[in-house]
Amino acid sequence: MARIKVGVLGATGMVGQRFIQLLENHPWFEVSEVAASERSAGRPYAEVMQGRWKVPADIPPRVGQLTIKECTPNLECRLCFSALDSSVAGPVEEAFARAGYAVSSNSRNHRMDPDVPLLIPEVNADHLDIIPQQRDRWGSDGYIITNPNCAAIGLAMPLAPLHRRFGLNKVIVTTLQALSGAGYPGVPSLDVIDNVVPFIGGEEPKVESEPLKILGALDGGKFTSADFKISASCTRVHVLDGHLESVSVGLTRKASADDLIKAWEEFDPLRDQELPSAPSPPLIYRQENDRPQPRRDRDEGKGMACVVGRLRTCAILDYKFFVLSHNTIRGAAGAAILNAEYLYKKGLL
Ligand SMILES: NC(=O)c1ccc[n+]([C@@H]2O[C@H](COP(=O)([O-])OP(=O)(O)OC[C@H]3O[C@@H](n4cnc5c(N)ncnc54)[C@H](OP(=O)(O)O)[C@@H]3O)[C@@H](O)[C@H]2O)c1
Repeated sequence: MARIKVGVLGATGMVGQRFIQLLENHPWFEVSEVAASERSAGRPYAEVMQGRWKVPADIPPRVGQLTIKECTPNLECRLCFSALDSSVAGPVEEAFARAGYAVSSNSRNHRMDPDVPLLIPEVNADHLDIIPQQRDRWGSDGYIITNPNCAAIGLAMPLAPLHRRFGLNKVIVTTLQALSGAGYPGVPSLDVIDNVVPFIGGEEPKVESEPLKILGALDGGKFTSADFKISASCTRVHVLDGHLESVSVGLTRKASADDLIKAWEEFDPLRDQELPSAPSPPLIYRQENDRPQPRRDRDEGKGMACVVGRLRTCAILDYKFFVLSHNTIRGAAGAAILNAEYLYKKGLL
């Protein structure tokens, strides 16, 4: 099969580099274009990335030779992955959609738009039915789909089977988020070594709202949010990769702890789809009382699985547990690639 040509917008950033790494040897997609700001444009990717390449693998030689272009919609590809800084992602992604490109974005700008899917293929694949409406907006075949914020996806994944089987009425979450989530160079070392920072700008509203859109319904051409509330406290901790989250849930129907574990362990909606980046299973429950841990568990399912553990009763709500997800893979580039694989499988590319 001839591979589909894809472009990476924001290819020089932290998430952009992950795209380049994860797309190397992808069976369906081939990086044909790399684009970034005018500061980087016009030079070979490998030259611009000298001293900036941070992922633990070499720059793929073929991509290293590509000349970086500006983010204007004249790239030779059908699909663009967007890892653009959110200060510019909004209008750039719109211009690409209007010009007929499919855009799979990591940026927050369009996540809550009323005609843009905020997609986790295991959870809300039916939300793609909104795409014809969006195509009408752009007057083209193009469209934007988005993946959730890196802490929101780690929360939405274990909530999804609980919401479906038992209903949810309240969720309280405290996140312990890794440094790579802040991009490069990120949080100054003097602020974070020997420390925890109890604030991440703009993060709590995303964690409180995005899972509700994801777990909500698409009815009569409109998204309706899931009917429960989330209270989030977000912290930055001295960990390289892997967001750990402490979650308490109130259920609308009674369930035993074994019922919850069974719901997580049976959750594998993409099992038969044969998508290259889909982990099977996507949720792993660990029985040990000291797991999940970022260093030990973040690479489960090549960084695409979420690891849940320490389920116990909660004295205030019904149950509490921890969940861990790899923030730059499942929480960013890996999620956008899985979304694109699902689009391809459904004939949307
Ligand atoms: N880091 C994470 O774990 C994570 C997780 C989920 C989502 N995200 C989101 O993903 C996006 C990228 O994050 P990041 O951490 O990779 O950021 P980053 O390292 O700062 O990279 C930003 C990218 O945007 C490009 N850019 C900046 N200004 C531009 C302009 N005016 N025109 C065109 N391109 C421009 C940069 O190109 P130059 O190199 O040429 O400046 C660079 O390629 C953000 O929206 C972020 O919120 C990040």
